[in-house]
Amino acid sequence: MTAPLRTLPVETLTEAQAAEELAALAQAIAEADLAYHQQDAPVITDAEYDALRRRNAAIEARFPALKRADSPSDAAPGAAPAAGFAKARHGTPMLSLDNAFAPEDFAEFTRSIRRFLRLDEAEVLRFVAEPKIDGLSVNLTYENGIFVRGATRGDGTEGEDITRNLETFSEAILPRRLAAPFPAQIEIRGEVFMTKADFLAFREEQARLAEEREQRRARGEKVGPEIRIPANPRNAAAGSLRQLDPEITRSRPLRLFAYAQGESSTPVAETHWDYLARLRGWGFAVNPLSRLLADEHDAAAFQAEMGGQRAGLAYDIDGIVYKLDRLDWQGRLGFVGRAPRWAIAWKFPAEQATTRLLDIQIQVGRTGALTPRAVMEPVNVGGVMVQHATLHNEDEVARKDVRIGDTVILQRAGDVIPQIVGVVAEKRPEGALPFAFPTTCPACGSHAVRPEGEVVRRCTGGLVCPAQTVERLKHFVSRNALDIEGLGEENILRLHEEGLVKSPADIFRLHRHAERMRGWEGWGKGAKSSKKVENLLAAIEARRGPPLERFIFALGIRRIGEQNAKLLARHYHSLAAWREKMLAATTIGSEAREELGSIQGIGPAIATELAEFFAEAHNRAALEDLAGEVAPQDAEDFSASDSPFAGKVVVFTGTLEKTSRDEAEAVAERLGAKVTKSVSKKTDFVVVGADAGSKAKKAAELGLRVLSEGEWREMAGL
Ligand code: IVH
Repeated sequence: MTAPLRTLPVETLTEAQAAEELAALAQAIAEADLAYHQQDAPVITDAEYDALRRRNAAIEARFPALKRADSPSDAAPGAAPAAGFAKARHGTPMLSLDNAFAPEDFAEFTRSIRRFLRLDEAEVLRFVAEPKIDGLSVNLTYENGIFVRGATRGDGTEGEDITRNLETFSEAILPRRLAAPFPAQIEIRGEVFMTKADFLAFREEQARLAEEREQRRARGEKVGPEIRIPANPRNAAAGSLRQLDPEITRSRPLRLFAYAQGESSTPVAETHWDYLARLRGWGFAVNPLSRLLADEHDAAAFQAEMGGQRAGLAYDIDGIVYKLDRLDWQGRLGFVGRAPRWAIAWKFPAEQATTRLLDIQIQVGRTGALTPRAVMEPVNVGGVMVQHATLHNEDEVARKDVRIGDTVILQRAGDVIPQIVGVVAEKRPEGALPFAFPTTCPACGSHAVRPEGEVVRRCTGGLVCPAQTVERLKHFVSRNALDIEGLGEENILRLHEEGLVKSPADIFRLHRHAERMRGWEGWGKGAKSSKKVENLLAAIEARRGPPLERFIFALGIRRIGEQNAKLLARHYHSLAAWREKMLAATTIGSEAREELGSIQGIGPAIATELAEFFAEAHNRAALEDLAGEVAPQDAEDFSASDSPFAGKVVVFTGTLEKTSRDEAEAVAERLGAKVTKSVSKKTDFVVVGADAGSKAKKAAELGLRVLSEGEWREMAGL
């Protein structure tokens, strides 16, 4: 992707240029979002991303009329955590470092120091060597020994004020008060990072949350902002630190090593090594692997030593920073451009390796998402044996054109998770064919479809796909579905593993296996309750006649959440009628399909999901099987027009006692009301809970019908 960031100042843009650029920016940001959120492979850096969004906002501010319907500024919060922070200017600039890659580079670095300071060979150059962690550098300002402000590096001169987020750090790594003596004013710099283990756990948790969110979304339920799955510890640390809500930062496993000084009202040390000791004395964590080298010739050995330890360290390092120890010399050397003359980052070689791609396996996720995974001949990449790598999705496989038999280049550059960066074209075996992404599910053979505009291909096998079974079974018995007590995840897993429950209908045949279950560890004798099996079977029996809407919801059809299940139940009344009409609706253009799509609140997209579900013979069979075990109660005839709230505008305000306000609003909507947030002349009813404020007052002023919670419940028939 080429970033469409222009150099033209926003003030000078013509309307045509602005419109063109807004279009390009919307596309670039959407691409970056997609790469970040869904493909888990950022195409631009966080800073570039923020710059794109800032530029977009600036152009929109100048040309409000040109703001696009798909404007990135309206996108979910969390996408650009940078927006919304105050600016913070650094006392002295936060510099970057020049790189060395080989001993000659380091030798040239020391030569240039000698040249600059006019030192001869006899003069010893002592260096402090510090592991270079790839995290996020921060600037911490202390006034009279008290932590007053923390900022990101930003452009080096000015960063974002993230004080509130840094205040969530423990005292053990970020002291709020320096132990005396200290200068009246001092800036301390360091790196915020995540360990590899914390990152992997965090990433897993984020992936789990994203999956859950996707499931809710698929059921047509409301979901919060998209969940980012960070690609590497650096992204995870950066994203965690730049949250607008400090409580999110608090929940993230962030660490901090202090390593440099910015502005200081009085000098605090004569050497960098002593400065690090002062940092420790003030209460900061300083990387314990930092070392004072007696002279420049020790650098290569230290580099090799750390290179050897690298893979075993708790955090990722991409090189070693060598800093001239004498601070008076540092001062004299100053900097060129943005990098100091007195320090250098000697990078480790990129963690790359080549190996042969043996296979591309397709994994089926809990929602049926098909994910390609590379299986390779095991190879050592930067000290870690690797034989699997994700290829993310269908498009990624095509873009990289990886073929089975290819020699692929694997990389672990700053990323704990290895990635295939490309193929060695010359080594492609003759006759290797482009990978044909399957259009059927490898787990169950059902069709795998990829809706237009989506990157993920999904199995439509639903109820019968073993990869999705456990997750779907969990949904089937969950509280808002069939609500079978005693069937938690652990028990479902056990029953599934033992082969007793493969489909929802099997749950209702469990009584046949009571004896066997009683023999299981923790189920029979060893169980907390000796009646575990009896209780479970009784709970199952109690659910043989669920309300039709719960039954439909329990099937876990994509986009059929509770609301839609209710609409379907009320429209078709009985299971038999619903099934018959759904079968007929699999034919596009049929009367049944038209009818389905025209149900208020359903619409053609959801109609398609239902039709796809019923088009699969497996799903039909599983449903038939289930219908043989349970007899859902017919849904009552429902007519919103019977309700006093039908067609009325209703506002809820204050705290309700019996239910949440969200639930009350949903009930009102079901009764045909239009629920709004603000009170106006058009409002018909204002339902007032405890501590209602200005809305209740306004309702009284406008002479609107005000209802207490009790009155509302009575009228709503609750
Ligand atoms: S010193 C002038 N020390 O590397 C000194 N930086 O490329 C500049 N970094 O932005 C920083 N570990 O984020 C320094 N021990 C260390 C470091 C370190 C990591 C990062 C830091 C900085 C970047 C410069």
